[in-house]
Amino acid sequence: MKITILSGATRESSHSTSIAKRLEKKFYEIQEDLDIVLIDNRKLRLPVYDNFENLTNEEKDRLDAISGTFFSSDALIIVSPEYNGGMAGGLKNTLDYFRKEYEWRPMGLVSVTSGTLGGQNAMNQMAAFASYVGACLAPTRLMVSQVQEVVNHPHSAESVRFEKNAEKFCSDLLRFAQIIKNGMLNYSLVK
Ligand SMILES: Cc1cc2nc3c(=O)[nH]c(=O)nc-3n(C[C@H](O)[C@H](O)[C@H](O)COP(=O)(O)O)c2cc1C
Repeated sequence: MKITILSGATRESSHSTSIAKRLEKKFYEIQEDLDIVLIDNRKLRLPVYDNFENLTNEEKDRLDAISGTFFSSDALIIVSPEYNGGMAGGLKNTLDYFRKEYEWRPMGLVSVTSGTLGGQNAMNQMAAFASYVGACLAPTRLMVSQVQEVVNHPHSAESVRFEKNAEKFCSDLLRFAQIIKNGMLNYSLVK
């Protein structure tokens, strides 16, 4: 099973990117034969959205490669920090380059904040996006509070809570993706 994790932050020392890497590790702990692709939005450096024909050939090639990765994934996980009461703007810019890639695709959502409310506003925006583009939204979502504690203090209460919630998120996501995959065997997700 192929799982793609899109880490949405563009900030150099982003904590939510550390969370995306922790989730990659967690998936492998649960099922070692998974094929996991971690896309770091910081490295994509996509321009602010423009018509496809205005992009450079190099940018078009990069977008084609991401599109191919999305199309071949059994699930897409989106990780966003909460910035100013919503998902990260750079993430939305990346997401806007694609559309058909999301249809019927199992999608797991992860919001990350240094505060105590788990990035609820970012989560709500991502859920509205997932619904709009016709993705299959996984029932279990992961909201990470006080992320600096999770990243810097592995034995803190926040870290312990994260490990437990991440375990459930990842195993539920695999189960959900498998159910959708089996149900889709007689159908194809056409381009
Ligand atoms: C521009 C900016 C806006 C932010 N806005 C919010 C916010 O609205 N709500 C919140 O809980 N945290 C907010 N934060 C704090 C982030 O939750 C915190 O930086 C956390 O580590 C996740 O972001 P990161 O991946 O960039 O580290 C903001 C951070 C930045 C840089």
